[in-house]
Amino acid sequence: MSPRIGIGAVALLILAAAASCGSSVESITTIPTQPSQSTADTTSLRTYAARRSVFVGSAIDRGFRYAGSDGVTFRSTMARQFNMLTAENDMKHDRIHPGRDTYRFDSADSLVTFAESNGMRVRGHTLVFHNQLASWLTSGTWSKDEAKALLVDHITKVVSHYRGRVAEWDVANEVLGDNGALRSGFWLDRIGPEYVELAFRTARAADPTAGLYYNDYNIEGINAKSDSAYAFVRDLMARGVPITGVGFESHFQVGGVPSSLAANIARFAALGLKVHITELDVRIQLPSTAAQLQTQAQNYRDVVSACLSSPACDTVVFWGFTDRESWIPSTFPGWGDALLFDSVYQPKPAFTSVQSSLK
Ligand code: XIL
Repeated sequence: MSPRIGIGAVALLILAAAASCGSSVESITTIPTQPSQSTADTTSLRTYAARRSVFVGSAIDRGFRYAGSDGVTFRSTMARQFNMLTAENDMKHDRIHPGRDTYRFDSADSLVTFAESNGMRVRGHTLVFHNQLASWLTSGTWSKDEAKALLVDHITKVVSHYRGRVAEWDVANEVLGDNGALRSGFWLDRIGPEYVELAFRTARAADPTAGLYYNDYNIEGINAKSDSAYAFVRDLMARGVPITGVGFESHFQVGGVPSSLAANIARFAALGLKVHITELDVRIQLPSTAAQLQTQAQNYRDVVSACLSSPACDTVVFWGFTDRESWIPSTFPGWGDALLFDSVYQPKPAFTSVQSSLK
């Protein structure tokens, strides 16, 4: 951050021309100003992102629907700071497809409409996932062919509904386990490994231009799981499966950003794929200290810089933006303070470092 020097007094020369009587009047006014109280850069993240043609986004969920001033603050911060939006939960199977013949698009539609009226791109999250599946699906008894038909119906209906409005989909979410093999779950268990390919091909048939992504965690650095992910997507490509890119979720612990992140982005990019940072947050064990918040700021800077260092990476999405609304405290008890704004929407050191990384 470059400090701005406060100017103690500025003399303003105001020339007023009075033309009415054919003569001119000159007045000199000196306006004393206070020294600048703040060096804060008030330029939004999306302003800097747009200048370099990249996308900076946030996932949102219930904060969007808050009534009264809570909701106003949440929505206006979202619209002011970000040019991309991900539905944190509203497009997941259980929310959008609550009965076998029932699709409920209203919540997700309101997010997409909000994004459109605020000039934001939308990431669709997510089409196949082992979690958050509707109970009518998981409790049913289905043959392999029935399960395939259910997958095709779900993806076709959802992707067609948002065709031309959702720019990119997480088609396959967290499909690899920590051992690098396909993760056991409803779709793998009922259909077998071909379900991933079926999902991508079905999504492509329903929207010929949307970006189609494989999204996962613990694949951000070069490690055994990302080696498997690399082989997995290379194999999909070799078989002509329509995949656009890979999403690195990027749920980190403070101090835990892998040093190989940029090199890992580069190797996926070398396959001809895009790489997006899709769910970034940096959690801290509570109570957080000032030193940890500074480390967190450096971690955010490192991730944004690693992404932007590759032409294949033009998108960074945070998994929320205010510590008031984050999945971390309930999922990782004792941890929190993971996002860019604190719980009363004050920008944290992490916000300033993301801002300067986007410049
Ligand atoms: C999480 C949401 O943030 C929570 O609100 C929900 O209860 C569970 O799912 N990886 C993903 C996301 O791909 O879908 C998860 O979102 C976080 C981890």
